[in-house]
Amino acid sequence: MASAQNAVDRAIFLDRDGTLVYDVGHLGTPDDIRLYPDTIPALLRLQRSYLLFVVTNQSGVAHGRITRAQVDAVNENLAAMLAAKGVHIRRWYVCPHSRADACCCMKPKPQFLLQAAEEFGLRLDLSFVIGDHPHDPATADSVGAFGVYLLTGHGSHHLAELPHDRLLFHSLGDAARWIEAHPDPRSVLAREIQSGAEAIRAGGLVAFPTETVYGLGADALNPRAVARIFEVKERPLEDPLIVHIAEPGDLAELAAAVPEKAQRLAESFWPGPLTIVLPKRPTVPDIVTAGLPTIAVRMPANGIARQLIRLAGVPIAAPSANRFGRTSPTAAAHVVAQLGTGWGVVIDGGACRVGLESTVLSLAAGDKPVLLRPGAVTLEQLGAVIGEVEDPPEQHSHRPESPGMFERHYAPVTPLLVVRDVGPFRGDAGVGVLFFRPREYEAAGPAEVLTQSGALDEAAVNLYAALRRLDSVGLKLIVAESVPDHGIGRAINDRLRKAGSYRGGGPATTVPC
Ligand code: TXA
Ligand code: MG
Repeated sequence: MASAQNAVDRAIFLDRDGTLVYDVGHLGTPDDIRLYPDTIPALLRLQRSYLLFVVTNQSGVAHGRITRAQVDAVNENLAAMLAAKGVHIRRWYVCPHSRADACCCMKPKPQFLLQAAEEFGLRLDLSFVIGDHPHDPATADSVGAFGVYLLTGHGSHHLAELPHDRLLFHSLGDAARWIEAHPDPRSVLAREIQSGAEAIRAGGLVAFPTETVYGLGADALNPRAVARIFEVKERPLEDPLIVHIAEPGDLAELAAAVPEKAQRLAESFWPGPLTIVLPKRPTVPDIVTAGLPTIAVRMPANGIARQLIRLAGVPIAAPSANRFGRTSPTAAAHVVAQLGTGWGVVIDGGACRVGLESTVLSLAAGDKPVLLRPGAVTLEQLGAVIGEVEDPPEQHSHRPESPGMFERHYAPVTPLLVVRDVGPFRGDAGVGVLFFRPREYEAAGPAEVLTQSGALDEAAVNLYAALRRLDSVGLKLIVAESVPDHGIGRAINDRLRKAGSYRGGGPATTVPC
């Protein structure tokens, strides 16, 4: 029954495990409850404008791994913990079935949302579903609510299953701040993109999300607008920019010629995290390419980025939206933390789902394609499409073809050391540790784990946010474990090496910083 006197008619439907509390498999007893550090502040923020509900799939009950009574006991305990901090969850909805039961309440089925809407008189079109599994935001779709995906819990692990148009966030706190600023999410976001496009057309700057990192963009055909990028970033003029396009066909307006290999690469990897370097057309201003006869172009996969380029009606030159040499931003708040405000428009499109800058491949350096920067599109993938690709060894990483490839880059303020074994540092509370995957020993200082499962793409999406967290707590040193050196792991090691100085054998023994 709808309650007419209810002032709040919007809801947030929250997943439990991996969203509010650490996911430890099955939470069997209240002792298993461990809240994320930002769970309480985020819920307090959200409940100012929303009724809060928990919707959780507990198929462990159907599989006999846990009893319904255990689930209820954990929920009652968690409810009490939250209530003690002033957070009021209206209902706890539990689906105890297995997929084989074909029940009507398992996410992504919206049964519990409809039930809550009926009981509390909710407007589901202005409500949100938040969770760390692709089925969480999917639950929102059929009832017109807005789905938000978190990289906590299993979030970074299940990214490959997540549709590309989903909004994702590094934490519940980030999601809560975004929701607060986007009460009518679709129209607020559309307005942000529109004002970004107007700023680009007027010669201004826009920070915008791409699937790799946030870009700081300007009209690529307007040299004065592009000059502002260098000023705001404090970037040396000899470091050329990447130009972003919305359609593969736009490449021909920037490149003097589009060879067959470029076409094949575009067909295979665009939209996506691959930048192709080709001879440029004379119409491209010199400031974009740092005076080089070549231009770097990519078509991003992020829908907001492409909509921005389309609406602006021009190609957008954009480096990563950080101060030169510093850690790249994978969330809008990272951009503002480094560049401040007042220089242009920031489009907040959540977290970036790849998390590392694009692969840069030159088709203009000679007979053979040359890999200038490793990224999510790997050497193996490139090779499968265009045959042999030259991969200059790290020792020669001052690559004349790519003047922007400065040796020290992507760096936190805190000194960073990359090592094979962080063991010797674990006793020092002034040292922060960036683990690749969970290790058996505890570190005395703050620690971050890039991936629970050991998956390299999961490590990539978490890398810069984890580095920033360690960089923000006033440590004397951060030590980072190098990661397995294959696939996107090569790109992670490349960024770590450039962000710090490398130690520990292997081909790149020391790199000056
Ligand atoms: O993922 C990305 O590529 C992000 C997002 C925003 O798209 N952008 C990015 O831009 O990482 P930036 O400026 O941080 O790195 C661009 C690099 C430059 O450092 C430069 O070395 C290389 O691309 N580059 C650009 N134009 C080039 C050219 N004509 N020849 C060789 N290398 C070039
Ligand atoms: Mg979950």
